[in-house]
Amino acid sequence: MDNFLKTSDLDLGPLDALVSKAIDLKSGSASGRPLEGKSVALVFFNPSLRTRASMQVGIYQLGGNAVILEPGSTSWTLEHREGVVMDGNKTEHLKEFVRVLERYVSAIGVRTFAELKDWELERTDPILKAFANYASVPVMNLESAMHHPCQAMADMMTIREKLGTEKKKILLTWAWHPKPLPMAVPNSFALAAVQFGHDLRIAHPKGYDLDEELIGDIERIAADQGNNVEYTSDIAEAFDGVEVVYAKSWGSKNFYGDVEADITERAQYREEWIVNEEKMSQTNDAVFMHCLPVRRNVIVTDAVIDSSRSVVVDEAENRLHIQKAIMTELIK
Ligand code: CP
Repeated sequence: MDNFLKTSDLDLGPLDALVSKAIDLKSGSASGRPLEGKSVALVFFNPSLRTRASMQVGIYQLGGNAVILEPGSTSWTLEHREGVVMDGNKTEHLKEFVRVLERYVSAIGVRTFAELKDWELERTDPILKAFANYASVPVMNLESAMHHPCQAMADMMTIREKLGTEKKKILLTWAWHPKPLPMAVPNSFALAAVQFGHDLRIAHPKGYDLDEELIGDIERIAADQGNNVEYTSDIAEAFDGVEVVYAKSWGSKNFYGDVEADITERAQYREEWIVNEEKMSQTNDAVFMHCLPVRRNVIVTDAVIDSSRSVVVDEAENRLHIQKAIMTELIK
C-alpha cells in the first residue's frame, strides 16, 4: 500500500484484513510498536475532534510521534496549484512544504474539506492529489473533498462487530441540515458498503444525487458481487426492512458556488428528513450510525441517538483501531 486515499484503491481482501487487524488491536490480541522512532505529520486544513485525537493517540500507541500542522494557523498558508505567481495571500507552496516535511516524517496525513465552490474542480480532490503527487512518503486521507476512507473503514468494522460478517441491508439517508456539507462521508460509506458485500439503499431528495462516476463504481462493484443498490427520494419508504441506518447530510452538486440557493432548496425538507423513532420502527431493528459531529434534533432525534440501537460512539472509538491498522500497513 503506497498511500491510503480511498477504499476503492484496494480490493476486498486487503480491506477485510485491515478490519480484522483493527479488531485484534482493539481486543489486545495484536499489539506492537511499528512506529518506534518514527514521526507522522498530520496536516489539518479544517477542524476535527475524532480524527485529530484518534490519529495522535494511535501514533503514540504505535510508538511514534505526531507532528500536527494547521496551514494558515500554526503553519504558513499553502498554495497547491502549479505555475501560480504567488503574489496573493499564500506564503508557501505545497511542493516545498511536502519536500521539507518528508525529511522529518515517515508519512503524512491530510484533512482538506471541499469548499463547495466549484463542483467540477473539487470532485477531482486537487489538494489531496497534490500531496500524493509531491510526497515520496505515504499519504493518508483524513477526509478530503470526496472521500473519508478512515471513517468508512471504522463504519465497516462497527457493522461487523455489531451485526456479524453476513451481508446486511443498509440505508444511507440524507438528512436536513441548516447548510450544505461536503460529500466525503456519504461517498466513502456507500463505496465501502458495497465493497464489503452489503445491499445498499441510498435515500435523498431529488437533486441531491452523489457523483455520477462514483455511483458508476458503486454499481459496478455491487453487480460484480451480486448485491443490490437501490435509490429512493421517498423518505416514508426508505427505512423499510433495513438493518443499518446511516444518516448524513450533504450539499447538492447543483449548488456548489451558491450556498444560499442550496439553503433555500433544502428548507422544504426540514420536517421530513430527520431520523426519528417512527422511521426507526419501520426497520428490521436497525442500528443507527453517524460519523459525528451531529446536530441533535436536526439530523436525528435525542430518542434515537440515545437509544440502545445507536452505535455512534463505537464508530468513533473504532477510528482509533482501524487507523492503527492502516498506519501499521502503510508505514513499513
Ligand atoms: N467523523 C470525523 O471525522 O470527525 P471529526 O471531524 O471530529 O474528525
